[in-house]
Parts: sequence; structure tokens; C-alpha cells
Amino acid sequence: MRFSPSFLDDIRERVPISDVIGRHVTWDRKKTNTSRGDWWACCPFHGEKSPSFHCEDRKGRYHCFGCGVSGDHFRFLTELESLSFPEAVERVADMAGIALPAPDPQAAQRQRQRASLEDVMEMAAAFFEAELQGPQGAKARAYLRDRGLSGRTIAAFRLGYSPDSRSALKEHLASRGVGKEQIEACGLVVHGPEIAVSYDRFRDRIMFPILSSRERVIAFGGRALSPTAPAKYLNSNETELFHKGNVLYNFTRARRACGPDGTLIVVEGYMDVIALAQAGIDNVIAPLGTALGENQLKLAWRVTPHPVLCFDGDEAGQRAANRTVDLALPLIGPGRSLRIAVLPPGKDPDDLVRQDGREPFDQVIESARPLADIVWSREAGSGVFETPESRAELEAKLRQTTALIADESLRRHYQQDMRDRMQAFFGTGHRFGNQDKGRSGGGAYGRGGYGGGGRDGKRGGGLQFVRSLAVSDRLSQSGLVRGHGAMPSLRETVLVMTVANHPQMLHHEFDELSALEFDDKGLMRVWQVMLDAASVGGRFDRERLFEALEADGQGAFIARLETQIRNARIWTATVEAAAEDAHEGYQQALALHKRTRELKWQRAELERDIAEATEAGDGEAIPGLMLALQEVHLEAARLENQEAIIDGFGVLSGRAKGGRGS
Ligand code: UTP
Ligand code: MN
Repeated sequence: MRFSPSFLDDIRERVPISDVIGRHVTWDRKKTNTSRGDWWACCPFHGEKSPSFHCEDRKGRYHCFGCGVSGDHFRFLTELESLSFPEAVERVADMAGIALPAPDPQAAQRQRQRASLEDVMEMAAAFFEAELQGPQGAKARAYLRDRGLSGRTIAAFRLGYSPDSRSALKEHLASRGVGKEQIEACGLVVHGPEIAVSYDRFRDRIMFPILSSRERVIAFGGRALSPTAPAKYLNSNETELFHKGNVLYNFTRARRACGPDGTLIVVEGYMDVIALAQAGIDNVIAPLGTALGENQLKLAWRVTPHPVLCFDGDEAGQRAANRTVDLALPLIGPGRSLRIAVLPPGKDPDDLVRQDGREPFDQVIESARPLADIVWSREAGSGVFETPESRAELEAKLRQTTALIADESLRRHYQQDMRDRMQAFFGTGHRFGNQDKGRSGGGAYGRGGYGGGGRDGKRGGGLQFVRSLAVSDRLSQSGLVRGHGAMPSLRETVLVMTVANHPQMLHHEFDELSALEFDDKGLMRVWQVMLDAASVGGRFDRERLFEALEADGQGAFIARLETQIRNARIWTATVEAAAEDAHEGYQQALALHKRTRELKWQRAELERDIAEATEAGDGEAIPGLMLALQEVHLEAARLENQEAIIDGFGVLSGRAKGGRGS
């Protein structure tokens, strides 16, 4: 049976080669550097006493400096265990937890189809490249030149231009014998039952090809040239080739550019990646129009244990940082974490290097802070903790946040770290958790206080100093810290605005929608107006709906809701989103919404039961109820964190994909 190269890449990517080899050798403690994924052992292929057999997780290769053997995961197993190639693949796929592709003719057919889709994508990329250089591309070339990109950079990233035509690409591909179905399966045209004649998806846009880890074109991002285009960026939809949650822009180049201690930098946009590359910083990747998702983070960890995530200094960037922290906490472990760097407000990496070269950006990356720092400062950063109540609340929040860390040992270390910080912060032997014996004795200005302050290398500053240090922290100055003011929760806003911007949903799912309830009173009102507007007969569309909302005096509120979703970068809720994307985003938000409300009920019920049991003096029932309540709290906290990443699309859709076994 033949395996597709992408399938093999996929499993090689997921299983560190040291896991495969580690079952056969004993690693040499001295030479091995686990956090770098750099392993040494005595060679299993030839007898030796000192280790000259080396493998590197980042490269997924092994090599013996003694006898010269080398290879990848499968080679190791076929050589050492004399497995056949398919057996070796099966073994590693098993370790990766991925099912083998079914050996049926359909799968083979699909594989051929994928290969041919890749060919079509390649043709499209070449077409866009040629268009950029052709007569129609003059405006686009001027635009790229104005943005400071050199011809070499344009060629390296294979930038192109999609002409302002509904059929240029379609006709070009057809003339080269590509069938209609293939063009559609590549997502290169907009088509569907209601669309009589399919048309080019990308028009009058700068085209950014998105490559697989084998560096084949699997999707495109397109940036509008015209400032009046409805969406600034348009990305390929999900196709057989492209699952955006599993792909990172510039991944393979960045991996190559990362030295052994390499830093991998994650930025937000395509243009940032490209501008940085031109400034000589090649180890940079970006997600694809969504917040970084779980699978993307895992991909980054295959390259380096501590990628640096770079966020805008503005409020939206800080919120994005916050979401990423919450996404990461359940996933981190020893040798798997991240750092966060904050850009000066209002500048993206592209602006930064274009104006002043790479220096300021290098500084930003150098000042990246470890995850634990961020966790601490977003809870403690802006607070004034003058009362015992507020301190207890801080402690509870920190405990809740650290509880999200699934890795037990790391969780303990985080909890210890947070205790230390509390102590430093308050300058007292403040207790955090109950494992804090022996620490609680230090008085208000006891040793613990100053000693803790010394963690920043600035001893003796005193309580006031330590506190202002934390408060002046740039990250915590604005939005990153909890609290969205009077705005509804993002989840609720997403539900309402997705429907407001895509009112056809009101028609398709009126019954289900009319049953929805929201915590936010303002949204409840907006929802009612929308339902009413939808249930009167006659012409009904977005325009009419917004008129109705306006007439009800909701205009300003709606504008704020719009800003909320745009700041959170939840494109699926915007008017520009394709109907299918809007629907998917809506479904995800809805699932969270339902579960959150269920938990709210459960919590209320449990609290009532506990109160009743207490009153009735039924001491025996209480511990059980408390435990149940704790669990509800924990799940609610998890959901709240997950809710913050509903636009981390890849996370949820990545999981769903596995489930569907597509
Ligand atoms: P930005 O709005 O920061 O754009 O979006 P940018 O990368 O700085 O681009 P320029 O400099 O204006 O040309 C960051 C990323 O978010 C996604 C894209 O992937 C973009 O690179 N995005 C943005 C979308 O998917 N859709 C949008 O409408 C806007
Ligand atoms: Mn930009």
C-alpha cells in the first residue's frame, strides 16, 4: 500500500523521533539535552561504549557518528526491527494516534485526487505570479513597491496578483484542461446551488500562496488592493488540501531558519512574516486569519520548546494574547511553553522594521516574557489589593488559572511560583493554597517580602516599589486585564451579530433561534427586535433588519457590538464572512453558549442544595455537594477560557475533524 507523503509527514510531525528510538536505547544523561530535543545514546546498530548515536526531534532524523547509519522514524524501525515499511508506518501512526488511511480503492482515488488538486493549486499560483508581472499587475506591483518589498522577496514568497475579473483564473485553468470539479474542490471559485455561474473567488487582490510542510501550494490568502473591498483579507475556504487550523504560514522556511537554540516567532499577519524575512528575520510564522489554535501551537512546539508569540500593544492585541494564554495553559508541559512579546502600541512588526530596520523588533523579541509572568500580571497587574477580600479573590483567580495546566508537575511549579509572587507582591507571608506551611510567619515586612521583591534583581525597593512594578507592567495597563467594561460576553455578542449580519439564518432556523436567551439585557432586547423584524412578512434582509434596530434606538449599541467582534478578530461574525463560515462560527459559539447556561443552572441548583443541607444540619451531604460544585466551577472556568478562543477556529474545527474521521 502506498502512503501519501502528506500522511507520512503528518505522523512524523506528531511523534518525536526520540519516542520511537527511546524504546530501544538508553539515553545518555550527560550529552542529552531534552529541552532542545537533542538526544544521545550508544548506537543500537553497532556495539559501542560511549554514545555517538544522535537524534534530533526538530529534524526528525537520527545519525550515528560511529557507524554512519542515519534516517527517519520509519528507517529506524525497518532497519533495527526489520519491519516492513507499511508495518513501520503503522507503528508510528499508532503512536501518533492517527488512523491509517483505509486501504480501499476510494482512498487511493482520493490520494490521486489530492495530488491533482495540488497540481491545480500550483497552476493557480503560477498564474497569479505571472499576472503580477504582467500588464494588469502594474497597480499591484506599485503597491508592493510602496510597501517596501523587493523583487527578491516577492519571488521568494511567490506573491501574485488576481486580476479584477470574475473568470480570468477559471478560464486560464479550463484552457489547460482542468475540470470544473477540480477548480471547485480547490476553492478557487465561488460556487453553489444558488450560484448560476461560478466565479473567481479572488479578484483584484495581492495573492499569498500558503504552503504545506512539503512546500506545495494548498491555499491562498488574498489582500484587497481596493480600500473599499468588503474584506481586507480573504482566505481560501477549507478544502481537501487545506485545514487552516493545522497550517502555519511560512512554517517550513521558518523551521529551516531556526538554529538549534532557535527562536520561533509567531506574528499575526502575512505581511509581517514577509517584511521580517526581508529584514533578515526568517524564523517567523503566522496563523491564517484566526488566533493561533491548538494544533498550530503543537506544530510550533515541534520546532522549538518556547516559541515567542508577538502581539500588538493595543487592546485587541492584548486580548488576543490573553486568549492564547488560555489556550496554551492546558497544553504546556516540561519543555513546552511559550513566551509573549508585546509590540509598541499601534505598530505591527511590518511597520516596525520598515521604519527602523530590524533592531527595534529584535528588542521586542528579547524582552519577551515567560508565560508565568503573563499569568501573574494579568490577574494582579491592575489591581489594588488593599482588603483581605481582594487578596483572597486574587488568590482564587490564580488558583483557577493554574488549575488549567494539565501537566501535574508543571502545575505544581506554577502554583509555587504564584505563591512566591503573592508573597513578593504583598510583602507578607501571604498564604496561597494549603501547602504553604512555614511561610506564613513572616511579618508584613519580613524577609519574605523583600526577598521576593529581589526576584527582579532590585532588592530593597519595599512594598510600594514592588507593587508599582507590577502595576506599571505594559501588558496589564489596559485591556489584557479582565473585564470588558459593560459589554456583553463575546460569546453572546458573536451569536447575535452573526445572525444580524447574516439574517438568512433567521429564516432557516427561526424556532431554534427564537428560543435563545442571553445574560445581557441589551442583547436580549436586540434579539427581540430582530425576531420581530423577521416575523413580519415582506422583504427581509440585512438592510431592513438594521433599519428596524435603528428605529428601536439600537444603532449605537450595534456599532459597539461590531467593534467588539472586530477587535476580537472574529471574522465569522462579520458581514464579509461567507455564509458557510458564518454558520460554522455560529454553531461553535452556540455550543459553548448552551453548555455555559447549563452549568449556570447546575451551579444555582447545587448552591441551593448546599444552603438547604446547611440549614437542615445535614452535614454528611455537604462534602459531596461541595465537590460537585467545585467541578461545575472548574468546567465553567474552562469554558470561559475556551469561550475566549471561539475564534481560535482551528482548535475546535481541528477536533471536530478528527471526530468525523474525514
Ligand atoms: P491585519 O489587519 O493586522 O493585517 O490582520 P496585516 O497583516 O497587518 O496586513 P496589512 O499590513 O494591512 O496589509 C492580520 C491578519 O489577520 C487576517 C490575515 O491573515 C492578516 O494577515 N485577516 C485580517 C483576515 O483573515 N481577514 C481580514 O479581514 C483581516
Ligand atoms: Mn500590517
